[in-house]
Amino acid sequence: MPLKNDLVLRTIRKEKTERTPVWLMRQAGRILPEYRAVRNSLSGFKELVETPELAAEVTIQPVDILGTDAAIIFSDILVIPEAMGLKYEMIEKKGPRFPETVKTVSDLKKLRVAGAEEIQYTIDAIKITKKELDGRVPIIGFAGAPWTIFAYMVEGSGSKTFSKARAMLYTNPELSHQLLGMITESTIHYLKGQVAAGADLVQVFDSWAGILSPMQYEEFSLPYISQVCDAIQEVPKTVFAKDAYFARKSLGRLDCQTIGLDWCMDIKESRKLVGDKVVQGNLDPCALYGTFDEITAQVKQMLNAFGPYNHIANLGHGVYPDIDPLKVKHFVNVVKEYSAGMR
Ligand code: CP3
Repeated sequence: MPLKNDLVLRTIRKEKTERTPVWLMRQAGRILPEYRAVRNSLSGFKELVETPELAAEVTIQPVDILGTDAAIIFSDILVIPEAMGLKYEMIEKKGPRFPETVKTVSDLKKLRVAGAEEIQYTIDAIKITKKELDGRVPIIGFAGAPWTIFAYMVEGSGSKTFSKARAMLYTNPELSHQLLGMITESTIHYLKGQVAAGADLVQVFDSWAGILSPMQYEEFSLPYISQVCDAIQEVPKTVFAKDAYFARKSLGRLDCQTIGLDWCMDIKESRKLVGDKVVQGNLDPCALYGTFDEITAQVKQMLNAFGPYNHIANLGHGVYPDIDPLKVKHFVNVVKEYSAGMR
C-alpha cells in the first residue's frame, strides 16, 4: 500500500518537500475529548492499550481531528518491562507503578527477554491501524530507550531524581549492564515486530536521558540505543533523548536518520552538533497555552530557525493533557501554511 501522504518519510530521505511535516509527541490520548470518551468506557488505561481495535481508533483520532502527518501507535513504553515479567499499574492522575522492582541478581533471574508476541495487542493494533488508515499517513512505532525503561524497573514509579535507579549504576554496574542488555534485546524484538506489523518508522524515547552525567550516559545509555539502532535496518529511526544536550554529538553518530530536540536545545547549535541528521521538534509544549496569535508567532520563529528542509515539526516533549485541542490544531495548521511559504 503506497502512502498518500509520505511527507515525513520524504523529509527523512532529505528530499525537498513542498512543506514541513508535523506531528506531536503524545498526540494519541491525553488531549482529545474523543479519546476521553473511549477511555472512560473502559476500566482504565491498560485495557485501552490491550484492546487492539480501540488502540487503533485512538491512534487515528489525531490524524482525523488535528490533521497530523503521522500516526503514533497508542501504547506505552512500559509494556516492555511487563513482557519481561515485571507488571505495571497505571494509577489515575499519578502515573505508573511497579509492585515489584529489580534490586538484586535474584530479581533479575526472575525476568526474561521478551519476544514481540508477548506484546501481541500492540502488534495487532498496528495491523488494524494500517488497514484503517489505508495509507493516509505513516505509522510511527516506538519503544523506550533501555536506560529509561531500566529507570522505571529499578525505581518502581516516576520520580524527579530516579535516585534508586541511578544508585544502582554505582552500586552494581554489572547487574545494571545485565538488565540493560535484556531490555535491549526485548526492545529489538518488539520493534521488529512493530515493523513487521506495518510501522513505517520507529522512535526511541529516552525520556530520562538528562538525569545521567555525560560519562554515565556514554556507558549506560548510548551503547544500548546504538544496539537498537543497528538492529533495526528495515525502517528509519528517530532518537529522542530529552535533556541530553551534552550528548548531541554522540547522538549524531548513531545509525539513525532523525534526532529529536527538546525545547531547551538551541536549534542552530543542535544542527551543527548532530551533523547530517534530520532534526525533529522542538516548540515548548507550554507555548500552546498562549493565545492563537502568540502560537503563530512562536511557530514561525521555530520554523525560521530550522529552515525549510530536513526538519519534522513537533513539540520539544509530549503535549500536555490540559492543552486546548483547538490550540494544537492551530499549531499544526500554522506549520503547514507557513512552511509551505518558506519554499
Ligand atoms: O504518543 C502517543 O500519543 C502514543 C502513546 C504513548 C503513551 N505513552 C500513552 C500514554 C506514548 C508514545 C507514550 C510514551 C511514554 N510513556 C513515555 C515516553 C515519552 C515521554 O513523555 O517522555 C513515558 C516516559 C511513558 C510512561 C508513562 N505513561 C507515564 C509517566 C505516564 C503517566 C503520566 C502521563 O504521561 O500521562 C503514562 C501514562 C500514559 N501513557 C497515558 C497515555 C495516553 C495517560 C493515561 C491515561 O489515559 O490516563
